Amino acid sequence: YEADRSEVGGAPSKAAKKVKIGIYFATWWVLNVVFNIYNKKVLNAFPYPWLTSTLSLACGSLIMLFCWATKIVEPPKTDLQFWKDLFPVAVLHTIGHVAATVSMSKVAVSFTHIIKSAEPAFSVMVSRLLGEEFPAPVYLSLIPIIGGCGLAAVTELNFNMIGFMGAMISNLAFVLRNIYSKKGMKGKDISGMNYYACLSMLSLVILTPFAIAVEGPQMWAAGWQTALSQIGPQVIWWVAAQSIFYHLYNQVSYMSLDEISPLTFSIGNTMKRISVIVSSIIIFHTPVQPINALGAAIAIFGTFLYSQANQ
Ligand code: 3PG
Repeated sequence: YEADRSEVGGAPSKAAKKVKIGIYFATWWVLNVVFNIYNKKVLNAFPYPWLTSTLSLACGSLIMLFCWATKIVEPPKTDLQFWKDLFPVAVLHTIGHVAATVSMSKVAVSFTHIIKSAEPAFSVMVSRLLGEEFPAPVYLSLIPIIGGCGLAAVTELNFNMIGFMGAMISNLAFVLRNIYSKKGMKGKDISGMNYYACLSMLSLVILTPFAIAVEGPQMWAAGWQTALSQIGPQVIWWVAAQSIFYHLYNQVSYMSLDEISPLTFSIGNTMKRISVIVSSIIIFHTPVQPINALGAAIAIFGTFLYSQANQ
């Protein structure tokens, strides 16, 4: 990709970088599949997406504070201006995260991810509004992406408006988050891993009061009793797994974003959704109509065309 090509030096470093990005992408996708399975298991038993979103951020923040304190990871050198610049990015991360989790609490994981496979279309539209020009084939490739997602949405057996809108809002918020994260990391002496750690901590601070206002301790306590009595103590491990894997997959995705353009990131993210959609349909026995699957396949194929058009 053009943006990536400019980021690498000679030919050997280009090959090495490709291998590195390949390893990052594979790790990101595997971690994300595990996260999605545990996240949905938790939401089925304990349908409080605002709390589970907060716990994921809290867990990631604790992991990174521990890593910094023990010097497993060198802490970043930040100043007040860094945190001020990070604030809007953290707002976008918070919105995108909560919106996706609320969506998954209302609909099948596969449906959320089919809608989220429209992310490259959002990426083009937002980049266009920010002044970037694209060749005509890029715009044409958006037709199958948008059409495929639309077909999948109208034929979804368990369509739910909150589930649909949550995934759409998450798309918009994450595309903006990726663009501004990339700008935020550029020229700064901070790694993708540490940038995401700071983002997690600031998002946690932003999200906590909203989670308390929207759901709150009373609802959580009652819901937790029900979950414990229905599932047993293993629900605690599900919550731990969804929180830990949430942090890990995002951390690896930011290590990738540090090396690639937001556009390539969106393509990689959509390709990731194929494994999430297939594995979640198998694990949760999600009913899928052939026309519904066709819509998802068209959308994913559109992303393939989009990646070719961008080359
Ligand atoms: C979240 O909770 O942030 C979403 O599940 C993440 O969606 P993504 O697949 O776009 O990272």
